[in-house]
Amino acid sequence: MIACGLDFGTSNSAIGVVRDRAAALAPLEADNTLIPSAVFFDYETRGRVLFGNEAISAYVGQTEGRLMRALKSILGSPLINEETVLGGRKVPLREVVEIFVRHLKQKAEAFAGHEITSVVHGRPVRFVDDDDRADARAQAVLEAIARRAGFRDVVFVYEPIAAAHQYEQTVQKEELVLIADIGGGTSDFSVVRVGPQHRGRADRSKDVLANAGVRVGGTDFDAALNLAAVMPHLGLGTELIEKNLPMPNALYHELATWPTINFAYTYRNERALTELVSLACEPEKVERLLKVVRQRLGHRLAFAVEDAKIALSAEKRATVPLAFLEANLAITATRADFDRAIEARMDRLHKTAGDCIAAAGLKSAAIDTIFLTGGSSRVPSVRAAIGRAAPSARLAGGSDLLSVALGLTQMAGNQ
Ligand SMILES: Nc1ncnc2c1ncn2[C@@H]1O[C@H](COP(=O)(O)OP(=O)(O)OP(=O)(O)O)[C@@H](O)[C@H]1O
Ligand SMILES: [Mg+2]
Repeated sequence: MIACGLDFGTSNSAIGVVRDRAAALAPLEADNTLIPSAVFFDYETRGRVLFGNEAISAYVGQTEGRLMRALKSILGSPLINEETVLGGRKVPLREVVEIFVRHLKQKAEAFAGHEITSVVHGRPVRFVDDDDRADARAQAVLEAIARRAGFRDVVFVYEPIAAAHQYEQTVQKEELVLIADIGGGTSDFSVVRVGPQHRGRADRSKDVLANAGVRVGGTDFDAALNLAAVMPHLGLGTELIEKNLPMPNALYHELATWPTINFAYTYRNERALTELVSLACEPEKVERLLKVVRQRLGHRLAFAVEDAKIALSAEKRATVPLAFLEANLAITATRADFDRAIEARMDRLHKTAGDCIAAAGLKSAAIDTIFLTGGSSRVPSVRAAIGRAAPSARLAGGSDLLSVALGLTQMAGNQ
């Protein structure tokens, strides 16, 4: 029987199988083993569904249709029961997740040359903060989706435990490691005892000293940067001539948050914004917002902001090009703006990392290594916030995006 390891990520996904006793990730788009967790429903050729970069390109190329991203975030929220209109048909959002999971499964089967009915499925330590029942419901929804997609045996593993498994392949001596997987939707931590002599053991539960997680990730950083640096140029925080009328703050938030972007595209919003333009002190800014809603440009905006955020990991300032909104329009965002916008979230990351070490019954000095993984661990202030939780630890890890998927696949091979 062949089992696979599935990392369904908020931003990126990968799936692998064990071949010749080694974990190998399936090619998902040309040779790429990692694809954006994106689905595009093409309205021009009814019924065509695109995935990954192809989905994003179709949207950016203005094919008529609907793009969905960050679908994993909705698992732990009431949105999972919502429907979206796709080409005139109402489709529950959970069905969109199922279509994506089914696609990954098929890719793994094509790679393995076999049907695959068993999956070691990654999950964040917390889908939902501070609500165990909602958290359990989110896993149950994901399990039901996996079963509908055709998996019969579904085992869930915490994503940082999978990353620990992968990290352990590289260590030469026993150590205590804090795994920090900072992804698109969640930040997940585990304190684990790893070492060459532990690798072969079947039961590793004693080596896992603690897990902790918080619903903070790169998609939140995108929203924070968007609201702080970009949305003010679309009228956020500006005034109306009649002061007793509020600006529609909720709409800015909806558009800045990946999984809710599509909800902003309503005639009601278009009508309300058309009226607001005539009431605004700075109508040219609100016009840009109206254009975003009318022309369904919310994801374009979100991608431009995400690109700038990524650039700010290496640079002190970055440009957000908005020429698709208005000729020559570009906004500059600085690292300082970004750091301020995510400051409260950095405190939560620091606290969750510290809580994880404390839950392991350890003082921070006992941690030998912090292994950083996940795309958002490339953000300098993220590294600093987590580093402060164990200042004497060595910082390791290239923030790679595949360690969770590889770890899950290795675990699938050991079953
Ligand atoms: N150089 C970078 N600087 C800052 N952020 C980055 C960088 N590279 C990628 N990211 C961000 O990392 C996130 C994606 O990371 P990753 O692929 O680890 O998440 P994921 O596994 O899909 O999400 P999750 O595990 O939370 O479900 C995105 O928000 C992306 O913008
Ligand atoms: Mg991840």
